[in-house]
Amino acid sequence: MVVVLAGVWAGVWWRGTAGDVGGIREALAGIAPPGGVSVGGPFSLVDPSGKTVSDADFRGRWMLVYFGYTFCPDVCPTELQAVAAGMELLGKQADLVAPIFITVDPVRDTPAAMGQYVKQFDDRLIGLTGNPEQIKAVTRAYRVYAAKSESTSGSAYLMDHSSFLYLMGPDGKLRNLFKAGTGGEELAQSIRARMSGT
Ligand code: NI
Repeated sequence: MVVVLAGVWAGVWWRGTAGDVGGIREALAGIAPPGGVSVGGPFSLVDPSGKTVSDADFRGRWMLVYFGYTFCPDVCPTELQAVAAGMELLGKQADLVAPIFITVDPVRDTPAAMGQYVKQFDDRLIGLTGNPEQIKAVTRAYRVYAAKSESTSGSAYLMDHSSFLYLMGPDGKLRNLFKAGTGGEELAQSIRARMSGT
């Protein structure tokens, strides 16, 4: 489930002009957080093998980060498919990219569950979880909205969560923000453009 963001993200704007109808141009332009709002930063999380992983472990590579949860019935699988398609299209350049899926539901998403889940999409995907404090810290840093939903699916609860893909540069700083629904081709094009500094 995805919610339209309120609060700090209310100021998110399209950098492209209104006349931009080509999906790729739109994605290349990307969206940006309101001026002065920092997105991202240090994190300490746990990988599927139970090892502690921090943002510093990815320095020198690009990070393509998505937040969601393995029980998500709709948006998360779609987004992770797009990430997998983008990685495929990047070819060799994908070696420079770490695709990362961080859970907003650490209670159910154990390290092992995350490992199993991401493998369905792409072997390169890194599923990260942590204790509730670690998840709270990283979602705060990335300005992610996540909360238990009022609606349920059978006996299981759902999570409402914001859905953006974050492209972080080799220095760990935000380079682009993709809205939900951005396709693999657009992702690959935009990542390539960012890599070549355009
Ligand atoms: Ni989801």
